[in-house]
Amino acid sequence: MKVTIVGAGNVGATCADVIAYRGIASEVVLLDIKEGFAEGKAMDISQCKTNTGWNTNVTGVTNDYAKTADSDVVVITSGIPRKPGMTREELIGINAGIVKSVAENILKYSPNTIIVVVSNPMDTMTYLTLKATGLPKNRIIGMGGALDSSRFKYYLSKALDKPANDVSAMVIGGHGDTTMIPLTRLAAYNGIPVSEFLSQEALDKVAADTMVGGATLTGLLGTSAWYAPGASVAYLVDSILNDQKKMIACSVFLEGEYGQSDICIGVPCIIGKNGVEQIVDIQLDEKEKGLFAKSADAVRNMNADLKS
Ligand code: NAI
Repeated sequence: MKVTIVGAGNVGATCADVIAYRGIASEVVLLDIKEGFAEGKAMDISQCKTNTGWNTNVTGVTNDYAKTADSDVVVITSGIPRKPGMTREELIGINAGIVKSVAENILKYSPNTIIVVVSNPMDTMTYLTLKATGLPKNRIIGMGGALDSSRFKYYLSKALDKPANDVSAMVIGGHGDTTMIPLTRLAAYNGIPVSEFLSQEALDKVAADTMVGGATLTGLLGTSAWYAPGASVAYLVDSILNDQKKMIACSVFLEGEYGQSDICIGVPCIIGKNGVEQIVDIQLDEKEKGLFAKSADAVRNMNADLKS
């Protein structure tokens, strides 16, 4: 199984590293526009092999799309990341041009691939990729909900003082500080609703911390995060390549689900070898429905900037 990752920066290289050492794919190609950069990252990652014991073939190329031929999955992380104080939305103009040309180049050599979009503003970049390529909607998946959900579980585990892996929780909606919706009502610790253990005030704080989870890290690091984003992409790629049919919140094209159409936004999906195999249309309560509609409006407004 072959995965190409376009953009060998912080998120792309971390993703390649996780895919390699977990043996998720047999071949990983890193591609970057910066001369020699992807080659260097691939070499550095490959030099871990003997000390960490894995066998994935990791190579790097500078803008040579022929080397990406016949990829089963292509991850697009190319673009610029957020700087402190910058919103994901401000990235739109620069990243739209990059994402569109990358998607076109990729499809010349891997016409049957599934594309995972990571570049921000992710929901809008996913929508742009879908419209620009004309690919069926099951083959274009935006990664954001997997990361936001892992941050939600992190903050829940801190509040509960229990292991994060015993917590199940999901974030849906747009992948933005004000548009994501941590589904607190449905979060559970070992199957028991977290509201049995935490006050409403504590739950509200967890949700608020989750929503600014990315911005908190951008403030601390001076650029946006990469370990959890890279691992979240690898988790999604694993479910595709190994047909795991995991339910993961992903930004996908909606045609009536959740009362929305002509938009890519985060909803629970079953992810397998065909990409998005099912959109799970769960019953939201009235408050959640209102938040989802508001989130969709914000994403739709941003999509409108693509045309201007
Ligand atoms: P980075 O700056 O470390 O890496 C981006 C790489 O893309 C650079 O190496 C750059 O040379 C390359 N690049 C730029 N234009 C290119 C082109 N036309 N073709 C090939 N490569 C090109 O940035 P980082 O931190 O890896 O973030 C990448 C993107 O992912 C950003 O847009 C960021 O906002 C987004 N992101 C999305 C997340 C999500 O949950 N969806 C989470 C974290 C970051």
